[in-house]
Amino acid sequence: MLDGLNSFNQSDIPKHIAIVMDGNGRWAQQRNKPRTYGHKAGVDALRETIESCAEIGVEALTVFAFSSENWLRPVKEVDVLMNLFMVTLKSQAKRLHKNNIRLLVIGDRSRFSGSLRNKIKEVELLTASNSGMSLVIAANYGGHWDIEQAAHKMVQKSLDSNVPISKLNLEDYLSTSGLPTLDLFIRTGGEKRVSNFLLWQIAYSELYFTDTLWPDFDKQDLVSAIESFSSRHRRFGKTDEQIDQST
Ligand code: FPP
Repeated sequence: MLDGLNSFNQSDIPKHIAIVMDGNGRWAQQRNKPRTYGHKAGVDALRETIESCAEIGVEALTVFAFSSENWLRPVKEVDVLMNLFMVTLKSQAKRLHKNNIRLLVIGDRSRFSGSLRNKIKEVELLTASNSGMSLVIAANYGGHWDIEQAAHKMVQKSLDSNVPISKLNLEDYLSTSGLPTLDLFIRTGGEKRVSNFLLWQIAYSELYFTDTLWPDFDKQDLVSAIESFSSRHRRFGKTDEQIDQST
């Protein structure tokens, strides 16, 4: 058992981790509080996870903050989530920048208020040249949406440049293009599904599911997920012998 973040070898550390931060509502209900109380506690868990990932040398952390389907939740809850996003961006921008973290927001922004869109742009610009970890917030994001928008961009590129579409790579047009390949996909809250998150990117990721509710997710849970990742034997479709020869 590894006792902390500093016990890992570089090769044990996933370059890119994605997290479905599930369980905020149940966490709040267990405490007889409104679901929104759980989302607020979820922001604290997120802050701790960002700092742990940066400390350990993860290159990119992508978190599912709001799915395309979350608009179907009660209006009040949607409003709280949007407001939390705005407040968190405002309060954390300087801290992210000071920690050399680059913020990127992926997803369809067209349904967000003008002020939220402007704030997102402002923090992305502020942190654009940072060379540390990339923090990617998926907001109004869906895996189907991502593949569709990438296909549209790729067709447009082919038309504009006369490059045959067969010579272009869809991956270059996904909202995660330029980020390292997704190594580890974590979902908290006990459900074992992908829920339309990073569908293309997940192709060779290791999947890790935990019953821990997101607001309770801490450094030790992250260590457990990375320990599990480092014990997996990744073959990427090849045989064991081929993998042994290439190392
Ligand atoms: C899922 O829990 C969580 C969400 C839909 C929102 C995640 C948001 C945060 C952690 C905080 C906001 C993030 C930012 C970037 C400011 P759930 O509500 O589905 O929980 P349940 O399954 O217990 O009902």
